[in-house]
Amino acid sequence: MEKELLISKEEIQKRVEELAEQISTDYRGQEPIVIGVLKGVIFFFADLVRKTTLSTQIDFIRAASYGSGTTSKGEIRITKNVEVPVAGKPVILVEDIVDTGATLTHIIENLEQKGVASLRVCTLLDKVERREKKVRIDYAGFEVEEGFVVGYGLDYNEKYRHLPDIYILRDDMS
Ligand code: PRP
Repeated sequence: MEKELLISKEEIQKRVEELAEQISTDYRGQEPIVIGVLKGVIFFFADLVRKTTLSTQIDFIRAASYGSGTTSKGEIRITKNVEVPVAGKPVILVEDIVDTGATLTHIIENLEQKGVASLRVCTLLDKVERREKKVRIDYAGFEVEEGFVVGYGLDYNEKYRHLPDIYILRDDMS
């Protein structure tokens, strides 16, 4: 696999600033709880939260899929839930990438059961073409096409997460 630069760290930071500005405007006067979906989200989450001008609380949630087939993700379970109380609070859910939408759908159901006052979704990357479950995305950084996207938290078999830029993996033969 060869990796080809897709989004540079400068482009990422510029877009993260824009998203943070938009979120800061939309939530002015509120103190939302920002929840990151581990673990691909970590760098995006850290950059985004620090660029907002809001007084936020942060927490994390983690989901894993089991028995996945070739086209679907299989059963999704929450393996680490949020710890701060979210009932009656405005919540912003932050993802690194939305693919089929299965993970997000499951997490949204979980948070809605906890009685959040409102819930918006922010994702750095949106792989629209692969969507299987309809999910509303309120803030999206970049739309990406099919293929393995790595770097800035995103992995391929746990590799490449540490890279500051985002790359697409290409088959050597193609
Ligand atoms: C990725 C990503 C989303 C999910 C998106 O996480 O962070 O949570 O997959 O896919 P979906 O829309 O098809 O459900 P992954 O399971 O790779 O875990 P990671 O963040 O720990 O790498």
